[in-house]
Amino acid sequence: KQVIAVVPAAGIGSRMGAERPKQYLQLNEQCILGHTLDCLLTHPQISTVIVALNPSDEYFAQLPQASNAKLVTVIGGGERADSVLAALKLADEHSWVLVHDAARPCLSHHDIDKLIASDSMFPQGAILGSPVRDTMKRTEVNGEISDTVCREQLWHALTPQYFPVRELKNNLSAALVEGALITDEASAMQWAGIKPGIVRGRADNIKVTHPDDLQLASLFLDNLNR
Ligand code: C5P
Repeated sequence: KQVIAVVPAAGIGSRMGAERPKQYLQLNEQCILGHTLDCLLTHPQISTVIVALNPSDEYFAQLPQASNAKLVTVIGGGERADSVLAALKLADEHSWVLVHDAARPCLSHHDIDKLIASDSMFPQGAILGSPVRDTMKRTEVNGEISDTVCREQLWHALTPQYFPVRELKNNLSAALVEGALITDEASAMQWAGIKPGIVRGRADNIKVTHPDDLQLASLFLDNLNR
């Protein structure tokens, strides 16, 4: 099976409040996106990595990974799903794709292997997830608690998310045309009536979103044995 990776990296990271898009912030010895790309580019089963960039990106070309022969870039879109779709248009329709957030630099090869190996159990695709740990509450708009939500079958949806390119591309574009709320690839597949699987991944595969996450990611990377 041919496996490629798509990395949406076209966001501006406004919640980080930094002077540059968060994927270009320094984390230990290189920027966040550098770590993410290293993990994907060195995985033996991944043949191509397509990175979606912001049209006004001024940092990517300076990364050492930019000249890697496995790497292709494309201009992303207004939302994450638009960026993923733009990248999928360059992908071989017969391959499978691992869509992975640029802002998750602590990914391990072990989790990629687990996800790829899950295709016998989940032939229509699967995503990495981690079980919810805290007690979950639902509130009214005014903040009053209305409910405790049973966490037994609740998961955090992580990335990579692993699907056949053709199906993902078709479902993503149809769901976007219909105006469905699509915040990850699994949502687009679910929208089309498919039930993707969840594969338990490492909880340290965090998405760097707020400034505090940088310190956590730094520690996690130091302890990561890819
Ligand atoms: O903002 P958030 O952290 O949820 O974004 C997840 C990923 O999607 C990031 O890697 C970001 O760069 C990417 N993204 C994108 N195109 C957009 C918005 C976000 O590629 N228009």
